[in-house]
Parts: sequence; C-alpha cells; structure tokens
Amino acid sequence: MTVTFKPLGSTFAAEVSPLDLRQVRDRDTLMQLRAGMDQYAVLVFRNQPFTNDEQLDFAQRFDGQLHAKTSVAVLAKNRFGNEALTDISNVNAQGDIMAANDRLRASTISNRLWHTDASFENPAGRYSMLSARVLPPVRADTEFADMRAAYDALDADTQQSLEGLHVYHSIVYSRHVLGFEFGEEERARLKGAVHPLVRTLPATGRRSLYLASHAQHIEEMPVPEGRLLLRDLIEHATQPHFTYRHEWQPHDLVIWDNRTTMHRARPFEDKKYRRELCRTTTLDVPYEIAG
Ligand code: OGA
Ligand code: MN
Repeated sequence: MTVTFKPLGSTFAAEVSPLDLRQVRDRDTLMQLRAGMDQYAVLVFRNQPFTNDEQLDFAQRFDGQLHAKTSVAVLAKNRFGNEALTDISNVNAQGDIMAANDRLRASTISNRLWHTDASFENPAGRYSMLSARVLPPVRADTEFADMRAAYDALDADTQQSLEGLHVYHSIVYSRHVLGFEFGEEERARLKGAVHPLVRTLPATGRRSLYLASHAQHIEEMPVPEGRLLLRDLIEHATQPHFTYRHEWQPHDLVIWDNRTTMHRARPFEDKKYRRELCRTTTLDVPYEIAG
C-alpha cells in the first residue's frame, strides 16, 4: 500500500492518508510509516478506533518494546492493569472526574509543561502513540515543537558550544517546580537519567536538541549557568514557528518521536469535562521490523 503524507506544520507534522492501523502488518507499509516519522516527527492518523489490546499490538509491531515507566506510572497503578498503557485522562479509578486536590491530577497537570516522555528514565521513550477515546466539547489541544528545526536555527558558534554536553533529567525536579512533592520512597526509586543535549538521528543524520521540563542541570556546567542555558534553549525551541498545535478529533491516533520533538497539553476546564486518552510509548532501544 502506498502511504502519503499531508504536511500540517511549517517544518514538521503530517496527516497520513486513510488507513486502518489495526490491519497494517506488512513490512513495506510499516517501513513507509517509519520513514514518515523520520521526515515529519509527528504523524496524525484519523479514524483509528483502537481497543487497548489493539493499541498494544500495533505499538509493538511498529516500534518494538514498550515502556512501562512513563508519566503517572511512577506514582500509582493505573485502571487498565497494564503499565504499558498510560492513562492520559482526568478520570480516577472509579471513572469519575478527578477532584481538584487529587494527587494524580496534580501530577498529570504537569503535562502542561513542555517535555518529552520518560526522558527521566534510561532507556527513555522513543515513539509515543496517543489515542483519543473521550474528548471534551471544548478545545483541549496538544502542542508539539520541532527540536531539529530549533537546532538548525542556532548559529554555528552556539551549535559548537553545545557539543559534548549532557543533561540530567528528573521527574522529581519537574514536578517540584509546580509544587508537587514526592515521598522519600518515591524519590529513592526515581533516580533520573543523563542524556546528551544534542543527538543525531541514525536514519537521517539530522541533529536535534533533546530537552524537557525534566531537564534539571547540565553535567559539565555549574548549576546556575546550566539551568539558564536549558531555559534559554527551551524558550528558543518553542517559538511559534517551530510548533504545531493538534486539535483532537474522536479516534485520532497521534504518534510523535520523543527524540526530535517536545510536547505539552493545553489547559481546558478539566474539573468540568472528561478527557480520556490512552498512550503507548516504546523504549528507545534498537529495533528492526520483522519480515
Ligand atoms: C502524553 C502527553 C499531552 C496531552 O500523552 O504524554 O503529554 O495533551 N499528553 O494530553
Ligand atoms: Mn507526554
């Protein structure tokens, strides 16, 4: 099957021609979709009525091993009974809209900061696949930033100065910034991870900034200078001309590459309306499509 891509943003993001991902199993089509990910970094698929099991199956066919320690999985077991399915919703285990003071809500709301999934783990997340199950009657968008275009736009001296730098990422840090505190046992479990600040994508050779709200300091720099540099780079990379804002439709599936993009949730009246999405994220480890 020939897949076509319709660009959505100015530098990245595309909508994929109609297809049913539940039926896509052949190597050729999967490879075309992976080439699309390499080019566009964010792909939008309309009309994908996944069940949880179908979403798990597709995620593994497309990109291998699943991540089970992203986002709220670090706090509590989810209502799906499988930590490879991340509950991106404002609903509690009983199926009710979370109260304003619910601890999980305070954590989920941190998705409103620019981030990449599981950068505080090693391996981090590679592809995240977010499926829209229940949408509110108001806009509740997800915004993406192209970290390759942001890197390319830096001047040569700045690019040179970033060579060889490493960043410590911690979810304890990113939640703390918003006033959320972890207990002692949680902190002991959430040790954080170190990743290069600039990465080269194996498939394209393109370079990309790797940043997130979880980015706490630069290993090779004094703390204040490192933190200021991280803030400056995030500010640079999230200027409107590097971003695409996704307006959700029922049964959308959006896949993004966490190595080359950041994303954030936009606020909506989350104590009034339900919003339920389900995410699968793959581990950033080598993978070959079968066949
Ligand atoms: C995620 C995430 C943003 C949103 O699923 O990882 O950050 O808009 N989602 O729900
Ligand atoms: Mn996220």
